[in-house]
Amino acid sequence: MYTIIAKKRLSADVYEITVEAPLIASSRKAGQFLIVQLDTEYGERIPLTIADADDKEGTITIVFQAVGATTLKLAALTVGECIANIAGPLGNPTRIKRFGHVACVGGGIGVAPLFPIIQAMKAAGNRVTAIIGARTKELIIFEDRIRAYADDLVIVTDDGSAGKKALVTEPLKALCSQAAKPAMSVAIGPPVMMKFCVLTAKECDVPIMVSLNTIMIDGTGMCGCCRVTVGGQTRFVCVDGPEFDGHKVDFDNMMKRMNTYREREERDKHRCRIELGLEKGA
Ligand code: FAD
Ligand code: FES
Ligand code: MG
Repeated sequence: MYTIIAKKRLSADVYEITVEAPLIASSRKAGQFLIVQLDTEYGERIPLTIADADDKEGTITIVFQAVGATTLKLAALTVGECIANIAGPLGNPTRIKRFGHVACVGGGIGVAPLFPIIQAMKAAGNRVTAIIGARTKELIIFEDRIRAYADDLVIVTDDGSAGKKALVTEPLKALCSQAAKPAMSVAIGPPVMMKFCVLTAKECDVPIMVSLNTIMIDGTGMCGCCRVTVGGQTRFVCVDGPEFDGHKVDFDNMMKRMNTYREREERDKHRCRIELGLEKGA
């Protein structure tokens, strides 16, 4: 059992939860994730990135968007309550080294998993330009935390309510078109955002790493659920990733597979909202 010791609502549907998990806190590295299960008998297993950790306190922090049944139930837990099972740290850590100048691009909830990468890239001696984007001002998360580490921070929103009215690809393109373009870039966010960041980086011949968010079950390479095509070969995101060379990822195939259970997920979400008293039943 993993006790929740702090909980914050960061925006309408986004929550930050700090959990006691000393073994994970002492061994996690940037880019790694967890498989979380709220109920060990029937609970769905969902992957969530370790957004932060405090080795001294023995705690880890997850930041998640309540999008469906399991994340809605997680959002309903309060301080003092427990998460039944957390497996991790899983996946390969981000390839951190001194590249020189690194552009780190995060969209929506993807900004939270980007944060430990920004910290680690900075600690490795890189100049970090962070570009963070959201639909609107209220959905921007982690701004202060990222500002404390990044050398430059560019904010964009779809409606112009914070920063520039633009998609993240616009400042990324401007940055990558400069003579002194970044030696490496990283993008985390919705698959369609990562796809277009990759196309932008490709035009300017800039390498780009992406963290893929395929559907996962076991997180240990056994079920095959998280398979993606990278460079024409089948790869498992949980054990071969979650980060890959963006230029080699088949995003269209990945996005198609992520919609496989959409109808069932919508039904479960509706039932869960009724159970939690968030909407009335028929
Ligand atoms: P559902 O209604 O069941 O699903 C909503 C959508 O989420 C689906 O259409 C599908 O695209 C995706 N999804 C559903 N089930 C799974 C599953 N078992 N595994 C992966 N995706 C699924 N989200 C965050 O908010 N914060 C994070 O830090 C974060 N980190 C992730 C790290 C990795 C490596 C991966 C693969 C995904 C991560 N996600 C993260 C996505 C998160 O796992 C899904 O939002 C969550 O599983 C949705 O579950 P649900 O039951 O609430 O929603
Ligand atoms: Fe099962 Fe990756 S989640 S193989
Ligand atoms: Mg679900």
